This record gives sequence, C-alpha cells and structure tokens, in this order.
Amino acid sequence: MTLLGDPFLHLFNFFPFLGFLLRPHKTILRRVEETCVILRKHIQASKQTINANYLRSYTDALLFRQQEETKKAMSMFHDANVLASVLDLVMAGTETTATTLQWAILLMMKYPEIQCKVQEEIKTVLEPGRLPTFDDKKRLPFSNAVIHEVQRFVNLLPQVPRCTAVDTHFRGYFIPKGTTVIPSLSSVLLDDTQWETPDQFNPDHFLDADGNFVMKEAFLAFSTGRRNCLGESLAKMELFLFFVGLFQKFSFRPPPGSTESSLDIGPVPGFTLRPRPQMTCAVPCD
Ligand code: HEM
Repeated sequence: MTLLGDPFLHLFNFFPFLGFLLRPHKTILRRVEETCVILRKHIQASKQTINANYLRSYTDALLFRQQEETKKAMSMFHDANVLASVLDLVMAGTETTATTLQWAILLMMKYPEIQCKVQEEIKTVLEPGRLPTFDDKKRLPFSNAVIHEVQRFVNLLPQVPRCTAVDTHFRGYFIPKGTTVIPSLSSVLLDDTQWETPDQFNPDHFLDADGNFVMKEAFLAFSTGRRNCLGESLAKMELFLFFVGLFQKFSFRPPPGSTESSLDIGPVPGFTLRPRPQMTCAVPCD
C-alpha cells in the first residue's frame, strides 16, 4: 500500500516509457507475486480438504463452485479467477479495516472525553461479559456515530483510479472510452456544504438533537455507483464488532511520557491514508 502511493508510480502510470528509469511497478508486481505464492498454497490445501457439507471459508465456497461447474465450457470459476478473487479479498479487505481500526484507537486516545462516552454507552447496553453482536448497533447510536466519523475524518481511500468503459458525456464534458478517471472522495467527505465542521473530528455529524444516529448522503467512504466497495457490508460489521469489542474491554491511553496533544493525527501519504506509527497503552476496564 505504501508503494502504491509512491509518486514515482504515478509518474510511471502517466509516462510508461519512463519505466526503465523509475521501475516502482517492478517491486509492486514482485510483492504481489510473493503474496500469490502463499495464496496458491492455501488454495491447493483447501482443494485437498474441501467438504461440500461444511464450507469453511470464502476460498472453499469458490472452489465448491469450481467443482460444480467443471462440466461447463465457460466457467468463471477457473483457477486464475479463484486466485484473483482471494487476492482481492486479502488486499482490499485486510488493509482497509485494520487501518481504520488503528485510526479509531488513535482518535479515541486523542479525544478521551469521546472515548469515555463510547464506553459509558457500551456499559449501559451490554451486560458484563456479553460480547457485542451486529444487532446491538441500533442500541449504540453514539458508538456507531463515532465509527462513521472516524471513516469520514480519516478519508482512508481518497482516490481509486477507474477507467471509462464507454464514451461518456458528463456535465458538458466528453470523456472518451478508456480514459483514466480518478474520483476524489475527499471532495465529498470533507465538503463544507455537507458537514458542519469538515476538518474536525466531530461525531455529532452523524447524530440528531436527540442523540439518534443519522446516516448522511455525503458519507461516501465506500464510494458509490456500480463499482462501489464490494466489501462494504462485511467491513461495516467488522468495524462495529471490533470497535465495540475493543472499547468494551480496554481503555486506550497515550503511553507514559506522552500526552493527547503530542499524538499526531496527520496521515502518511500513500494509496490508503495510514496513521503514523505511534504507541498506545491498552488498559483493561474493570
Ligand atoms: C474500512 C473498510 C473499507 C473501505 C473504506 C473501503 C473502500 C473502498 C473504496 C473507496 C473502493 C473504490 C470504489 C470505487 O471505485 O467506486 C473500494 C473497492 C473495493 N473494495 Fe473496499 N473498502 C473497505 C473494505 C473492504 C473489504 C472488507 C473488502 C473485501 C472483503 C473490500 C473489497 C473491495 C473490492 C473487491 C473493491 C473493488 C470493487 C470493484 O472494483 O468493483 N473492501 N473499497
């Protein structure tokens, strides 16, 4: 992800003939291949142990379809597509949710009064020892608002390059088929006509005057349209369960010797905007 944000890579994408000088894509392709080696082994192992009555994973589900469709002349579930789909899940699905949770911990350390409010809400809804379920979301509006505000504020994936599949007319512009288009999600997530305080971390953006959770049309962290995030519903579940589960059990504080004000909430430039590496103390709640 760091390499994907490399300015030399962008330069290479615009001027491929400079590839022999810049070469950033070589490293990326090598890293992707290293990941594929691991995944091929995993897929092979799954093939050998798959049980049609008990599919253990996404990989199993893809391989099961592959077995079912062996007689079809044009199955989409051939080995290369199974590998590409598992790779997508690993690349698109791991970094995004893990980094958002890192941001959530950092922002809760930075704003301890918000962290306290989250923990009070969790305490009133979850009996001691009961882990959260996704159904609890309705009864935890403040925590839900905080998670959405983390996603809005950190603007994790500000730009995903796309390409026009057909000649397109858009707002008076003609965009020929095959043109690279890079929508800017920052322009919506930080739009001052849509958010009261776009540059501040403010969970009230997602709450009404009575403290109920309110979804906003401009919340486009997962983008929109036909090619929006495929993992949106999974990501929302993961974020909610991990966030509530973590803050139910721990308070996160700056380590001894540092204070809230010394925490850096600026991002490291890259394909995904990551927080700078910082330490935290996870103090078990009583
Ligand atoms: C916090 C979590 C996540 C965020 C903020 C996020 C955000 C995004 C964004 C902005 C896009 C680009 C959509 C577009 O160009 O219109 C995208 C695409 C995608 N995401 Fe996510 N994502 C997250 C989690 C996940 C997870 C958990 C998975 C899979 C399990 C996933 C799989 C994908 C895939 C496969 C695409 C490409 C979809 C396509 O090309 O049709 N994402 N995501």
